[in-house]
Order: sequence, then structure tokens, then C-alpha cells
Amino acid sequence: MPILEVKSVTKKFPTPKGEVIAVNNVSFSANSGEVLGILGPNGAGKTTTLRMIATIYRPDSGEVLVDGIDAVKNPLEVRKRIAYMTQEPDLTPPLSVRDYIIYYFRFRGFSKRDAKKHCEDILELFGLKTHAHKKPFQLSTGLKRRVQLACALSSDVPLVFLDEPTAGVDPRSKRKTWELIKEKLEDKGVTVILTSHDLYEVEYLADRVIIMNQGKIVAEGSPKELKKRFGKTVRIVLEEPIKNFELLKEELLRVKNVKDVRLARDDSFDVYFKSLDDSINGILQVISPQELKIKDIFTATANFEDVYLEIIER
Ligand SMILES: Nc1ncnc2c1ncn2[C@@H]1O[C@H](COP(=O)(O)OP(=O)(O)O)[C@@H](O)[C@H]1O
Ligand SMILES: [Mg+2]
Repeated sequence: MPILEVKSVTKKFPTPKGEVIAVNNVSFSANSGEVLGILGPNGAGKTTTLRMIATIYRPDSGEVLVDGIDAVKNPLEVRKRIAYMTQEPDLTPPLSVRDYIIYYFRFRGFSKRDAKKHCEDILELFGLKTHAHKKPFQLSTGLKRRVQLACALSSDVPLVFLDEPTAGVDPRSKRKTWELIKEKLEDKGVTVILTSHDLYEVEYLADRVIIMNQGKIVAEGSPKELKKRFGKTVRIVLEEPIKNFELLKEELLRVKNVKDVRLARDDSFDVYFKSLDDSINGILQVISPQELKIKDIFTATANFEDVYLEIIER
């Protein structure tokens, strides 16, 4: 059974300009031990979706099941099974890092003694020992985020939400965060729902990805599958500038599996194939009779960002 099932969930907000459908009939599920990435531009509905699963918002319609438990009917039971790292880097109440972590675990129902012991382990594991005495105003965004991450990932719950965990974090701390997430998740069956604007981060961490736009899911699959669907691009560089590109393009578009042809520079063009496995033989057969001399050929697989942008702009 999946640890999370979201079934036809919709959430609307009244605003002065009329009703906003933040999440529009969204369904997905997550399996135990999986990292599920949710991608999408600002306003796509990612945070609203997380908040409904986390029982902060009540869906207008649809159903959310966490570990088989209905999030609307039984929010307290669901809350015991989830940890939520929110997208804001604030630590409230403004305690020292050590006291904050102890407070967090006391809140989660740990005894004083267990919370203290757990806190020392976490400070060590997440490289926070030297910062343990600092108050929030003495911490960089990266460190605040790390404290929040440490709490969420150490909560010993089956479902963890990380809402933009590295937004505003410098590149080195980002790497550190990724390592910590990977390490921490390696041997446990914890499921993580991750939202991010960093496509590299999502590709690195997520087993599967959902792409949202305007409240709806517009694509779903592993980063690899999504890239595969996008196909292959070949750049052909000629010895001389191309005289009649439109004619060349017309002929190339007749070649099997060619999706698009675009001029790159005056002496080079890109051919977009439908799939990664397509052969470039056909395009060579178009080029050679025209007495165009090829200087170079590169094959480029689309990167995850290209794929994302294509899906969002479509
Ligand atoms: N509490 C709220 N009141 C009114 N509108 C909201 C509220 N929360 C979110 N929205 C609107 O819902 C849409 C989705 O927002 P959100 O879920 O925060 O998107 P994301 O996290 O993908 O950036 C946006 O149009 C946003 O303005
Ligand atoms: Mg958000």
C-alpha cells in the first residue's frame, strides 16, 4: 500500500479578485522509501498541496490518505506520521539551536530526557555542534534551513515534507544539504515529498517527479523517463554558412523521427529527434547530395531543465 494517496483533491481560495483554484483535481501517490519531487513555477499549487496533506488546509473536495488514514477525518493521527519542513527559514520560538531542537522534539511527544539525548545526536550528525548556542538572528539562512531539516529528517516518521529546503542557501551548503538528505534516507523506509526550483537538486534527489502548473499535474515520471520522452538533439556544423536553410529544413523534416530543425548559427543547425534511440542516418542522406560539407556533429541529450521548461511552456 502506498504511504500517501492523494485522490482528486481541489482547493480554492477566495480573494478580492475572485476565487483562485490553487489545486485543481490533483491525484498522485507515493510509495514507502521513495523521494517524490514536486516541481512547478511559483503559484503552481505545490505548497497548498503539501498543506492539505499536512492537515493545515482542508481540501474542498477529494481525499488524502496517509498510511491509509484519512487526513480530514483523522488529522491528529496523520500529524503523528508526518514531519514538515516549511518553505520559510524561520525558527520560532527564537531559542538557541540546542533549545530549539529540544523544544521541537518535546512538542513531538518525546520525554525531556529523550529529547535532550536525541538533540545531541542530531547536532553531531548535522554538523551543528559549533552553532548549538546561537540564536536565530546569529544564523545564516543556510544554517537555519539545516536546523529545520535536521528536525524534519530526525522525526522518525514515515512521511517527510521538504518545501524548498535549499531556497536562498549558498551552493556549498546546498551540497551539504543534499548529502545529508541522501545519507539520512539511505537505510530507512522514509518517504520524502520534496518541492524545489532547483532542477539539479530534484534530479539528484528524486526517484519520481510530478510537474504542476496552474493547480494541475502536467507531467509525471522519473527524471530519466521525462528526459527520454524529450528525445535527442544533434547539432550539425558545416564548413560554410548555410545558403538556403528553409529548403534544407523542409527536407530534413521529412526524415523519419525528426521533430524539429532550428538554425543555431549561420553555419550550424540543430535537429530534434523524437526519441533517444533514433538514428541520424536519414539526415546524413539529406545533407550529402546537397554538397554541404560537415565539419562537426554533436549529440546532446536534453538536460532536465530543458525538459521542465518545455513541459511548463507547452
Ligand atoms: N492562503 C491563501 N489565500 C489565498 N490565495 C492563496 C493562499 N495560498 C495560496 N494561494 C494562491 O494559490 C495559488 C497556489 O499557491 P501555492 O500553493 O503557494 O503555490 P506554489 O507553492 O507552487 O508556489 C497561488 O495563486 C496563490 O496565490
Ligand atoms: Mg510554495
